Amino acid sequence: MKNISILGISGSLRADSMNTLLLKTLADFLPGHVRFQLFESLDEIPHFSPGIPDHGGVIRFKQAIQMADGVIICTPEYAFGVPGTLKNALDWTVATGDLNDKPVAAISASPLNTGGDKALASLLLTLTALGTKRNDESSLAIPNIKLKINSLQKISDEPTIAALKAQCTNLLKIIG
Ligand SMILES: Cc1cc2nc3c(=O)[nH]c(=O)nc-3n(C[C@H](O)[C@H](O)[C@H](O)COP(=O)(O)O)c2cc1C
Repeated sequence: MKNISILGISGSLRADSMNTLLLKTLADFLPGHVRFQLFESLDEIPHFSPGIPDHGGVIRFKQAIQMADGVIICTPEYAFGVPGTLKNALDWTVATGDLNDKPVAAISASPLNTGGDKALASLLLTLTALGTKRNDESSLAIPNIKLKINSLQKISDEPTIAALKAQCTNLLKIIG
């Protein structure tokens, strides 16, 4: 079986982010031939403006995407939208098409019962603009996330675990 590499991108910069925890949890569900890498330097990416040459954090971000067979983005919702840090990073990839044709899964998680659905909808629009490869099952909104984490800081809610596993299976199917 050929080795596969998945890149996880969290839309949250918080050290104890629940979205980052979801990505780390999901990594445990990937089969042995799949390598998971978490991109942890979103805050090192400068503000995007057309014409500025790639440097530092931008180059590392693009290389991480290019080396991955698939990407999983997990994000909170801020003010009904995608966190600016994440949108900014994605904007850097427009001109160079790093995410074009790339299999991507998009997940939002929120302490509210909306599950961050507006951020997810906005993220999916951006991912469409970027030409990512997805199907009808490539997204997941997780509501009431705080209730799904136990005192050991583990995702303990069985339906959420099943939904995360389904995202892994679907992404691997799209990667082929
Ligand atoms: C400035 C700010 C705005 C927020 N706006 C929303 C929002 O519009 N919708 C929502 O579901 N949660 C909102 N939240 C709550 C986040 O979903 C919550 O902080 C979440 O835990 C962040 O994810 P993390 O644990 O991965 O950092 C907001 C939080 C902050 C700090």
